[in-house]
Amino acid sequence: MDEKTLDEIISRYDSPSGRLLGILEEIQTSEGYIPRDVLEMLSVKLDVRLSQLYSLVTFYSFFSLKPIGEHVVTVCMGTACHVRGAAEILTTLEKLLGIERGTTQDGKYSVTTKDNKFTLEIARCFGACSIAPVIDIDGDLYGYTTPERLPEILEDYGWREP
Ligand code: FES
Repeated sequence: MDEKTLDEIISRYDSPSGRLLGILEEIQTSEGYIPRDVLEMLSVKLDVRLSQLYSLVTFYSFFSLKPIGEHVVTVCMGTACHVRGAAEILTTLEKLLGIERGTTQDGKYSVTTKDNKFTLEIARCFGACSIAPVIDIDGDLYGYTTPERLPEILEDYGWREP
């Protein structure tokens, strides 16, 4: 995002210091994430400490400091899913997507594949415990998942075995 575009967003808010969330939301929507250089520009323009902006961005799960993939795969790690094998589901997805275990973003588990096709995240209960273990892809829930079923599910979203 260039400076002119950022200025246009800021100008839509009468009192920018009180509208940080709105401005950040517009940046997130426009870019798909919050680029660091834009955050730095915003800090200078609004005279708000960079650390304050980071606190906001990392507090709300809607914001991301890294580009989000075309498809977001979220693994439920809630209790019911955990006891029915969610950890194995997560490990298998990491393997299939070529994601390194333990890579995290700002304390949140959110990792995007190098080709930006998939972002893998974890959550705490989708409220669908009766069909555990559950994963969510772009808002579609898949219950009773097994490691064996995952390639077939991912293929519907353009994944191909490397
Ligand atoms: S614990 Fe996974 S859906 Fe509730």
